[in-house]
Amino acid sequence: MKSFVSSLALFAASTFALPQQLSSLEGRALSPYAPVTTPCPSNSPVRKANDVSSAESSYIQQRQTKANAALAAWLTKTDSTFPTTNLPIVGITTSGGGYRSLLTGAGVLQALDARDGNTSLSGLYQGFTYQAGLSGGAWLLSSISGNNWPTITSLKTNLWETAFEESLFDPDGALLAVADAVITNDIAAKSAAGFNPTLTDPYGRLLAYQLLSGNDGGVSDTLHGLTSNSNFTSQAVPYPILTSIGVNTDVGQCTPSSNGTQYELHPYEFGSWDSGVGAFIQTQYLGTSASNGSPVNGTCHTNYDNLGYALGTSSNLFNEVCISDPTLSGLSSNLTTELTNFLGAGHQLVTRDEYAVYPNPFQNYPGATSVSNQTELSLVDGGETDQNNPIWPFLHRPNVAVLFVNDNSADTSDNYPNGSELYNTYQIAKSDGLTRMPVIPPDTTFVSQGLNIRPTFFGCNTQNTLTLIYLPNHNYTYDSGVSTAKLQYSKTETDALIANGVAVGSYNGNGTFAECVGCAILKKTGGTLPSKCQSCFSSYCYN
Ligand SMILES: *[C@@H]1O[C@H](CO)[C@@H](O)[C@H](O)[C@H]1NC(C)=O
Ligand SMILES: *[C@@H]1O[C@H](CO)[C@@H](O)[C@H](O)[C@H]1NC(C)=O
Ligand SMILES: *[C@@H]1O[C@H](CO)[C@@H](O)[C@H](O)[C@H]1NC(C)=O
Ligand SMILES: *[C@@H]1O[C@H](CO)[C@@H](O)[C@H](O)[C@H]1NC(C)=O
Ligand SMILES: *[C@@H]1O[C@H](CO)[C@@H](O)[C@H](O)[C@H]1NC(C)=O
Ligand SMILES: *[C@@H]1O[C@H](CO)[C@@H](O)[C@H](O)[C@H]1NC(C)=O
Ligand SMILES: *[C@@H]1O[C@H](CO)[C@@H](O)[C@H](O)[C@H]1NC(C)=O
Ligand SMILES: *[C@@H]1O[C@H](CO)[C@@H](O)[C@H](O)[C@H]1NC(C)=O
Ligand SMILES: *[C@@H]1O[C@H](CO)[C@@H](O)[C@H](O)[C@H]1NC(C)=O
Repeated sequence: MKSFVSSLALFAASTFALPQQLSSLEGRALSPYAPVTTPCPSNSPVRKANDVSSAESSYIQQRQTKANAALAAWLTKTDSTFPTTNLPIVGITTSGGGYRSLLTGAGVLQALDARDGNTSLSGLYQGFTYQAGLSGGAWLLSSISGNNWPTITSLKTNLWETAFEESLFDPDGALLAVADAVITNDIAAKSAAGFNPTLTDPYGRLLAYQLLSGNDGGVSDTLHGLTSNSNFTSQAVPYPILTSIGVNTDVGQCTPSSNGTQYELHPYEFGSWDSGVGAFIQTQYLGTSASNGSPVNGTCHTNYDNLGYALGTSSNLFNEVCISDPTLSGLSSNLTTELTNFLGAGHQLVTRDEYAVYPNPFQNYPGATSVSNQTELSLVDGGETDQNNPIWPFLHRPNVAVLFVNDNSADTSDNYPNGSELYNTYQIAKSDGLTRMPVIPPDTTFVSQGLNIRPTFFGCNTQNTLTLIYLPNHNYTYDSGVSTAKLQYSKTETDALIANGVAVGSYNGNGTFAECVGCAILKKTGGTLPSKCQSCFSSYCYN
């Protein structure tokens, strides 16, 4: 550790004397964080959002074959009379909620992972084709995928337990002491390459120190680069998707409206299905400005899709103060003060700093009316429309039939979910004419019927909608309603939250739960089900 720190200090010292203006090539040489100029592909990297990309479709086709074999094995283990042909595509989502959601969500995954313990649901994770996360859930998914999909136990013992003991944002903390100089250099390199950084840059870089491995907090990891990890190339893992919300800052908006544009960020593509955008760019070419699909000045960029920046994009809340002059405001919290230091000596915060910014690839693009004259896209935390579960991507992928939804939102005063996030998604989906979302009752019904304190299934009886297997955070073994603002966890707290998450994922060992999950998955296939599924449906299915 000592030599690591001193070599960082040397590295930093050697870079401080460099001139301010550097070409992007020099920026690249200085730090793997800097975007680089690259020849443009022969075809436009931008396309209309009419279906998933052929790259994704090909991954999914191969993944589904493997996932369904694992799903069949789990179903047979659960009940040897379950039919195992024509199995549906199944996915899982983890909500926002900071470290609370990361850790609870990790426990849920552990409960479902055949490699990591033995619950009645162990093996289901191997049967998933998609996995999505937003905010704290995006931290979890990025940590898993960026480390090539190890077990939760391995991430916990080799990375998180130690990393989370120290708040990265503590100005006197040891982690910041290690990372400070080298991150300053990364951010200066991005700036020198012509991309003006914002608060999301140091924020994402610091988070990456806790979530990724490799030099300088996994600085070389990119979202597109996940496609090179061995478990991805062998289609051994679900396809990962992060979400974020667009804000139309050019028309004076500073927080999104309740139907704000839903962006998705994944290894192959970045963009939105929503009206007003309706387009995607290949993730590897993020950083490229394009007009009507053609790269501006014939110039393309890569390496803008840094994984730490992507997970920071999905979780940045700096706009919540929503003011045009941040220097006058409550933004002067310790966190913001700390992060502002990375933007250069004496940097005065401006509104733009409150967003994760992306050079806009959708300028003047047919149909991209809401962003067509913005030079940059401004993105914020995926939960800012009070739809804290990343379900949106699956309302646009009709081949997905069953979705596990692990909701670790802090809706109640004691930081537990009350169903309102799910209800909001249902309402906005309905008003947008999206038909894959099952009917969700209002939060008052969740609370009065206890649907938010035990697993509940939605959409069992509607063949044309998703079935949602709703897994709300609940204090089975530990008081897991930890504040989203808590940034530091002892090993004991980390372990206890994960262990409680295992209970959330397995309904605390309830003897009939696995059987009933199997029944709910198979209900979508239309095959003949064992008669005991009837009592499952009456216990767990809301509709
Ligand atoms: C897992 O638990 C079940 C039920 O308790 C048991 O039958 C099975 O042998 C266990 N499997 C392993 C691999 O430990
Ligand atoms: C990923 O690959 C490693 C090494 O081959 C393997 O041990 C691990 O179980 C894989 N992960 C998954 C989710 O299959
Ligand atoms: C949100 O709703 C408004 C009013 O109905 C509509 O004009 C706008 O296009 C919607 N935005 C999105 C992203 O769907
Ligand atoms: C395109 O070139 C013009 C003229 O050199 C320059 O002002 C502009 O910033 C360039 N735009 C991009 C996105 O590179
Ligand atoms: C902010 O930083 C100061 C100085 O390091 C520290 O004394 C104070 O406790 C911090 N406040 C919070 C809320 O962390
Ligand atoms: C385009 O920009 C102009 C100002 O330059 C603004 O008034 C207009 O609302 C913008 N259009 C859209 C669709 O955002
Ligand atoms: C659920 O939580 C939301 C967000 O905090 C709150 O506005 C709503 O009143 C709560 N609903 C109930 C029924 O308590
Ligand atoms: C869970 O919360 C309830 C209500 O606050 C409390 O009575 C119970 O002791 C808690 N259980 C645990 C394990 O913290
Ligand atoms: C298992 O869950 C069902 C449905 O919530 C419930 O009726 C039953 O009492 C639970 N069984 C145990 C042993 O907790």
